Order: sequence, then C-alpha cells, then structure tokens
Amino acid sequence: MIDNLEKFKKEIEEKASQITSPEALEEFRLYYLSRKGLLNDLFENLKNIDKSIKGSYGKALNDLKNFAIEIFEVKSKYISKGKTKGSMIDDYTLPGKTFNTGSKHLLTQALEDITKIFERIGFKVYEGPEIEDEYHNFDALNTPDYHPSRDMQDTFYISGKDKDKKYLLRTHTSPGQIRVMENQQPPVRVIVPGKSYRNEAISSRSLSMFHQVEGLYVDKNVTFRELKGTLDFFAKEFFGKDIKTRLRPSFFPFTEPSGEMDVECFLCKSKGCRICKYTGWLEILGCGMVDPDVFKFVNYDPEVYSGFAFGMGIERTLLIRHGIPDIRMFYENDVRFLKQF
Ligand code: PHE
Repeated sequence: MIDNLEKFKKEIEEKASQITSPEALEEFRLYYLSRKGLLNDLFENLKNIDKSIKGSYGKALNDLKNFAIEIFEVKSKYISKGKTKGSMIDDYTLPGKTFNTGSKHLLTQALEDITKIFERIGFKVYEGPEIEDEYHNFDALNTPDYHPSRDMQDTFYISGKDKDKKYLLRTHTSPGQIRVMENQQPPVRVIVPGKSYRNEAISSRSLSMFHQVEGLYVDKNVTFRELKGTLDFFAKEFFGKDIKTRLRPSFFPFTEPSGEMDVECFLCKSKGCRICKYTGWLEILGCGMVDPDVFKFVNYDPEVYSGFAFGMGIERTLLIRHGIPDIRMFYENDVRFLKQF
C-alpha cells in the first residue's frame, strides 16, 4: 500500500514540472487537492486499510498531502509573479546584480574644474551662441576682411535668417568677449566656456570641433602683470603647483601686445621629445591686452579702461595634463578610455 503512495509522489513530481500556466496550476489543484481530489479520496479510503499498517500508511499519506500542498504553494508564487521558467526557489546566496554607474566625461570634469578655479578669483560665467555672425566672430575683434583666419578653408560658413549677414560656426570663444561688453559696463570679469569649430584636417592633434575657455577682464588700470599672475595662478591650480610655464610674444588682431603661454612638456619634462617637437614646451593658450580698437566697437573709452583676454584649448590642455596621445580619443566613447578619469 505504501508503495502505492510512492507512485503517487512520483506522479505529483512529474505533473509539477509541467505546471507553467495558471490553468495547469488549477488543474493540479483540482486533481489532487480539492474536496473531490485524489488525496481526499485516499483519506476517505483510510478506514478500509488494515489496522496493522494503518498508522504508518496514515503518516505517509499525510506526508504526501503536505508534499502536494508545498508544490502548489511554490508554483502559485512563481506563476503569479510571471516567472514560469528557471529556478523554483529564490537563491539568496547568489551574488547581487551589479550596475555600471555612469560618470562625467573627462571634458565635462575639466570644464567644471576650470570654471571653479576662475570663479574663486571673481570671474562670472557667460555662454555665447555657437552660431555666430561675422561681425562678432571677426569684425568687432578687429579682424579685417583680408585676415587669413577668415579664409573659407578655416571657417564653416552657413546661411542664416538675415540674408545680408554672414553666419558661421564660431571659430573661437572670443566673440563672447564682444557680447559681454556690448551688454555691460566695466568692471567686467568673465569666462566663456564652449565649443568652437574650424575646418581642419582631422589628426591626432586637431579636430574640427573642440572646446575653449575664454577669459576677459576689463577695468581701470588693468596691467599685463595681472594677466601673467592670473594665468600662473590658473596653471598651478590646474596642473599642480610645480608646473613650469612661460609666456612668449605672439600676435592676435584683438590683443596688443599678445602672447602665448606654454607649459612644460608632460612627457619629457622640457628635455625635448616628439610630442613637443623637441622644444620642451607645449602651448595651451593665447592671450594679451585687449586692443583699444576692440573697445571702440563696444563703446568703451580706451583712455579710461584697459583689460586683458585669454583663450585656451581644453582638449589640448587635457592632452598635456593626462598625457593622452591622440585628441580623437575624447570622442570615441571607448569606456576603457573614459573609465580612467
Ligand atoms: N581666440 C584666440 C584663438 O582661438 C585665442 C585668444 C583669446 C587670444 C583671447 C588672445 C586673447 O586662438
């Protein structure tokens, strides 16, 4: 008799593995566990069982019933959760699910760092438009028609709403200087972070879109010494206090005198190598005293006010800070690269 119950147990096990829908579950319940189900029948039949085995048979029958109930309960839990496949029971010893946390892109981090450094010494942030007109990008920056940087080769010209005006993608953040001065009287102390565009052949050192941060300070009696002091302060804060910098004379139509700032080569520590073209130095920014002619475009009196301006390339600066060999790596979105910062 007890063998019989073993057979039922196997049958229940087999049926259990086929329960994959609420309908099959209900069928299982009706067949084994309902009032007219098999288990109830077996209990009804208990009175006909020989007394000598009644005790052990009764106990085995109870176990069988509990077994069927347990299967029913576990299955109903999974089927109601919509889980019909896989493991029947939660395995709490499995490792938890992990998620990749996102992080800020290297460029975003750098723009935030640079902004904070300048905010600490009183600069405000202004963001100008990326689609500029020729007036703000060139004319008002004292860059006449014949200047080579206006060449079609360098500038992306585009058509715009006003047919008499020439529109372009700004080639630097310097038009931001003009827009700030048009709307505000001195003192002006502002930085202009943002994208710039030039029609350049793409290589390990240049892209047709890159980021710059412009700086402008105008007040009474602003001197070249303050420009140098500000840039040195920035370099020390951004690259570390041991960084060596140097200022070289240069030319920009909108500053006079003009300069370029170099920092020592990250690779050779100014000994001279391929990256720095054996000069030991890498250029990070252009700068100078605002040309009095620029003040005339924004109705500032050059007899009363003076100022300095600078513009730095962010990708370039980061190549130096982190020793990144190729500027294109910023935009390939290779997680193995991005994760390092
Ligand atoms: N706009 C210049 C460039 O893109 C940099 C610059 C900015 C130089 C401000 C002088 C003053 O090269």
